[in-house]
Amino acid sequence: MVNKITVVGAGNVGATAAQRIAEKELARIVVMVDVAEGVPQGKGLDQWQSAPIEGFDSRVIGTNGYGETEGSDIVVITAGIARKPGMSRDDLLNTNAGIVKSVGEHIKQTSPDAIVIVVSNPLDVMCWVAKEATGFPRERVIGMAGVLDTARYRAFLATALDVSVRDIQAMVLGGHGDTMVPLISYTTVSGIPITQLMDRTTLDAIVERTRSGGAEIVKFLKTGSAYYAPSAGAVQMVESIVHDQKRILPCSAWLEGEYGMQGHFLGVPVKLGRTGIEKILEVTLTGEERVALEKSAAAVLEPMSVVNL
Ligand code: NAI
Ligand code: 2OP
Repeated sequence: MVNKITVVGAGNVGATAAQRIAEKELARIVVMVDVAEGVPQGKGLDQWQSAPIEGFDSRVIGTNGYGETEGSDIVVITAGIARKPGMSRDDLLNTNAGIVKSVGEHIKQTSPDAIVIVVSNPLDVMCWVAKEATGFPRERVIGMAGVLDTARYRAFLATALDVSVRDIQAMVLGGHGDTMVPLISYTTVSGIPITQLMDRTTLDAIVERTRSGGAEIVKFLKTGSAYYAPSAGAVQMVESIVHDQKRILPCSAWLEGEYGMQGHFLGVPVKLGRTGIEKILEVTLTGEERVALEKSAAAVLEPMSVVNL
């Protein structure tokens, strides 16, 4: 376990992530920070009171300031707002960019050696804002989306094939949005190519459902978005870092020439260990997958141009 992990934003994703981190005893102290007065304090106390029942010793605390977060080993950023009536997509983009920028500046001051995992949307753009605001090297600013998108894809495949999710190996790359790229050429079931087990029409329908997986949940919930799988995704990344597992996970990373791209974040396979990103893996893509990845990169670059940093 590490000494301290901070989760910024004690909303649905943040609070659930904090509880998961504590239950897995990934840190001695788990700090939740939120601007809403009393909310992180109340949720932190409630979570700590579940410790005697669940049997964990990670101490959870909630706060409205950054004093308690000082010296965090890892910071997970989930702060942000959802789009409100009358707000354009660009308004949302700039509001969340302002929030993530201010969070990043606080982290830079109080936890200069932290590894930052960004969850706030629009994900790949917010990763860039966090990287700019902290000034941290690319190894220490990583976005969570591919783990979630891949989990959705694997869950849908397991349901369709009536097999264990554990036996589905897959990877979804690209930006976190409609243009994400589920890699059919790397999708296997215990090593068997998916195309031997499923017809193309069914597979294409699952790919499409994965792409709109977030919207499907929003349609059900009406007042918010998914948080159980997103928090699980962020915590899988935290776990790989804390335990130096060197997991190969699809994460949003700052590209410096990989896949022929640079100057933006995008979901790619990375090796995650105790120092953060240890390696970005460049895998061979089919022509169709490469075109899709380039289209996805364009969809990340376009909103970056309207953010006022
Ligand atoms: P939520 O609305 O439940 O929680 C957001 C929290 O952020 C609120 O408690 C709010 O008070 C807090 N907040 C706002 N400004 C803040 C600031 N300056 N400092 C600290 N806290 C601040 O939202 P939820 O469901 O937890 O989602 C959080 C973010 O994660 C959203 O941007 C959402 O779109 C994104 N998300 C991203 C996913 C991904 O795959 N990357 C998946 C799911 C959600
Ligand atoms: C999701 O995919 C909203 O990005 C969030 O559920």
